[in-house]
Parts: sequence; C-alpha cells; structure tokens
Amino acid sequence: MVETQKKSRWSKKSLSAQAMGKIDARTKAVVPPIHISTTYIRDPDNGYSSGFIYGRPDNETVREAEAVLAMWEEASSALLFSSGMAAATAVFMALRPGDHVVAPSVMYWALRNWLMTDAVAWGLDVSFVDMANIEALRGALKPGKTKLVWVETPSNPLWSLTDLEAAADWTHAVGAKIAVDSTVATPVFTRPLTLGVDIVMHAATKSLNGHSDVIAGAYRHGSGGWRDHIGADGGDGDGLGDQCGDLCQRAYRHGFQLQSDICERRFDDQQGGTDGDGQFLDSDL
Ligand SMILES: Cc1ncc(COP(=O)(O)O)c(C=O)c1O
Repeated sequence: MVETQKKSRWSKKSLSAQAMGKIDARTKAVVPPIHISTTYIRDPDNGYSSGFIYGRPDNETVREAEAVLAMWEEASSALLFSSGMAAATAVFMALRPGDHVVAPSVMYWALRNWLMTDAVAWGLDVSFVDMANIEALRGALKPGKTKLVWVETPSNPLWSLTDLEAAADWTHAVGAKIAVDSTVATPVFTRPLTLGVDIVMHAATKSLNGHSDVIAGAYRHGSGGWRDHIGADGGDGDGLGDQCGDLCQRAYRHGFQLQSDICERRFDDQQGGTDGDGQFLDSDL
C-alpha cells in the first residue's frame, strides 16, 4: 500500500509513464529494481524502521504499482490482490454474520456464485436487485441492517448501467457503504470515488493490465483506514506477488499514454457490439 503521491504539476499520463517518478536512490535508475526479498533485516534496536517487515504483506514493487492505481482513481490509497475475486471477496469479508448486502442481479458470475453460496454460509443476508433501476435498489435497502451495496457498472455480461451518484446517495441515507466493481469502465472512463462511492474494485486482470499475462485485483478507497473497508489483505495471504507487481507496473507505465487510446478504441469496438448502448462512454483524460 502506498499513499497517493502528489506531483501536482504532472498529468496523469506523465505520472503513469514514469510510475510516479520514482528514481532509485543509489544508481539513479529511472526504472526501480524488482524487490524479491521475502524478509527484511531488523534495526540494532530490533525495530523495522523501513516499515518493511515480511514479504507477504510488504513488497516495494507491488507498492509502486499500487501508487499508480491510486493516482489513476484519485484514491487515498490502493491495494493489489492476487486476483479480482480476492479483491472483491475481501470487501465482503469485512462484514459480520447477519449483515445485509444488496448486489446486482446481473454481475460477474463467479462473484454472484460466491455471494449465493459462501457469503450465505458465512451468515450474510444477500438481496439481488436490478441495479439499472434505482428505485429497485432503494426498495431493497434495509435501514440499520444493510451494511454494503455492491454495484457493477457497466455490468458483465450485459453492460447494464447504474447511476452511481444516486446509488451512493440512497446507500448513505441508510448508513451503509457502497462499493463498485469498475473493471469494465476502467479509471479512464469512470472514477467512482469522485461520484460519492466509498470503495472501488477492479479485476486488474482485464483492461488495467491489458496484456493477458497477470491475474490481479485492485481495491481503492476514498477515506478511512483499510480495516474500515476490507476483511482481508496481503497480510492474510491475498496480496499480489512481486513478479506480477512488476508486470502490472510495466503495464501501467505505458498505461495512460497508450491506455486511454487503447481503451477508447477497445470501447469503441465494444460500443459497436452493444447496439449503441455504450454511447455513455466518454473519456476526459
Ligand atoms: C467484472 C469482473 N469482475 C471481477 C472479475 C474477476 O477477476 P479475476 O478473474 O481476476 O478474479 C472478472 C473476471 O472476468 C470480471 O469480468
């Protein structure tokens, strides 16, 4: 996890191309080395002044990739997981048995399956609603019981849309949090945290990586501490490995320079396949 670095004079494309502009202190290399160490040496007083204690939760290469993602999403920080499913389920694992969750009736199938089986076995009360219909969402909320609203927009596989601002307003009115699977939109097209959403998740396996060579998930949030939002992280064994972190960072480096163009082209193609339903997609980056 890396707090978003503020290089206010740089555009998102420049920040991406230079992976936040980090220079290796000793060699002045513009591409930092891949950190593969599983453990870190203690200080003479037995402390860990570097902040790095053990490789499972602490890896600089992964943190560097997370910093780029946080910048893209205008998030306070970001966390990379070993898959999109690991990132998504980590959010639900912050809930307690008896908590009520509202999820879309059309959503990524494996997460829907997990919600219908493992989440229910864990004691969550899950309602599936048509998130394209904001009144249906409103009607499904249970004041005092609903703790999380999970949205996926555009949804896989039907590309149905949810009005994120309205969904965030209704969710917050009952004291719940709202999380969005923004895999299909990518931060090039939608930055949900700027629309009132609390948590954003991506299957970083897809457009964020763009090379079909990394299974990864990303999770970003707007405010508060990690444990306000998620029930599992790298310390629990869900984190991304160092080599995959480097592949992600490499993909993100040529990310916004090329990715906004690639994504626009990709979405142009997808719009062609959705009979005009994709007209909403509009990048301002
Ligand atoms: C919208 C969406 N969310 C989540 C996932 C899960 O991501 P992963 O395969 O990295 O676990 C996928 C994978 O296809 C997806 O399309």
